Amino acid sequence: MTRFFVRKSVAALQAEAEQAEFQQSTSHDGVPLKRTLSALTLVSLGIGDIIGAGIFVLTGHAAAANAGPAITLSFVLAGVVCACAGLCYAEMASTVPIAGSAYTYAYATMGELVAWIVGWDLLFEYALGAATVAIGWSGYVVSFLNDLGIVVPPAYAGAPLAYDAAHEAWRTTGTIVNVPAMVVIVAVTALVVIGIHESARVNNVIVAVKLAIIVTFIVLAAPCFSTAHWVTAANPDGHFIPPNTGVGQFGWSGIVRGAAVVFFAYIGFDAVSTTAQEAKNPKRDMPIGILGSLAVCTVLYLAVGFVLTGIVPYDQLNVADPIAVGVNSIGLKWLAPILKFGIVLGLTSVLLVGILGQPRIAYSMARDGLMPSAAGKVHPRFRTPYVTTLVTGVVVAVLAGLLPIGLVGELVSIGTLFAFTLVCIGVLVLRIREPGAARPFRTPAVYVVAPLGAAASLLLMLGLPLDTWLRFGGWLVLGLAVYAFYGMRHSRVQLAAT
Ligand code: ALA
Repeated sequence: MTRFFVRKSVAALQAEAEQAEFQQSTSHDGVPLKRTLSALTLVSLGIGDIIGAGIFVLTGHAAAANAGPAITLSFVLAGVVCACAGLCYAEMASTVPIAGSAYTYAYATMGELVAWIVGWDLLFEYALGAATVAIGWSGYVVSFLNDLGIVVPPAYAGAPLAYDAAHEAWRTTGTIVNVPAMVVIVAVTALVVIGIHESARVNNVIVAVKLAIIVTFIVLAAPCFSTAHWVTAANPDGHFIPPNTGVGQFGWSGIVRGAAVVFFAYIGFDAVSTTAQEAKNPKRDMPIGILGSLAVCTVLYLAVGFVLTGIVPYDQLNVADPIAVGVNSIGLKWLAPILKFGIVLGLTSVLLVGILGQPRIAYSMARDGLMPSAAGKVHPRFRTPYVTTLVTGVVVAVLAGLLPIGLVGELVSIGTLFAFTLVCIGVLVLRIREPGAARPFRTPAVYVVAPLGAAASLLLMLGLPLDTWLRFGGWLVLGLAVYAFYGMRHSRVQLAAT
């Protein structure tokens, strides 16, 4: 039994990271990953992965259905949960700067079985996250091309399958496949195979455009802000927190539900930690990348939520393009297509970093023997984990081509929250188990921050529907079966321990 909980010591992991730092053999085929990422590039990778469908789409939905103008407070709440988790990620990523992110941290703190579960969970989260965003990307591109007079036939721009929640059954939609979603995944996968440096450069450019667009929106819309826009039929007195009309519908419970919905907007800073072996100075720069990107995005999210609900009544925001509705309402119609273009670009970087993150987790798992060794191969010229990248690209392209968007978003949130919970617990476990380990970054007030992060993540998980829990549970059970038939028998750490 104890062999399932065999741990990698922090000293061993630090030696592994150190060895990688000197570019010695770190992979099966002796080719190391390439160390090229600076602190600023890491912040940019985080922003690239964080700002996406969440702020551009879900903000409007959560304001209209759950929180009203108090969506700003929902962003604060979700931001606090992420800040706690982010501080714990920062400590772990600086202490154990290895590509596997939460998977590696779990190996060091709670042993192999938990590590496997976390790794399996992360594969699910990253693949479904990229698929969700690719489907959103396709919707925006089709609408943008339409504005330019180019019509993409609907049969080739949607999911052939839809889930009918009322009848709990799948049905066909008459659509053949979502071609734009698949094409973007193929293009992004090719870039990620070609190189981390190239990927990071493209991401930097996209992030600059994305930030410029968001700041432009805030600056142009802020002068039109008026609390008169807080007044709606359900909120005749124009309260900042509209009166509660049921559980999760406005009032304080609406703010909490809104936080669970917009939590998706914060997902992504954890992807920074998957590139630990490609950072020039991971011990110092991992915390900067993780916390820096989170801080920038939190400030922007608060500003967008506040301004948007101050320029248009929140009951008009339950649409696919709430930001465009906002700019139209203040007479800036010319800005809408520019925004759409920026959003398409913005979603592309979320895909890019998602497709970059997943193969690096699988790569770490393969190096530990929990996945076939082919998955640990690094391309001799490109110095990227190309086998896992290609597999990721194919799986995500198929999912994005066939599935509807709604189904996958909540699954991504539950997977992420699960990883956050375990990282927060892991930090505490490691403080107790290995108090003397070198920790370049230490989570401040860890005995408050870590339990708060774990409890808040669990609370947000509890807010997700039963269906989501069941699907997530099904994935974990499948993972345990794979571990029993493969990982458990091939684990290098177990072999070394016996
Ligand atoms: N945070 C990312 C987004 O909002 C996943 O698209």
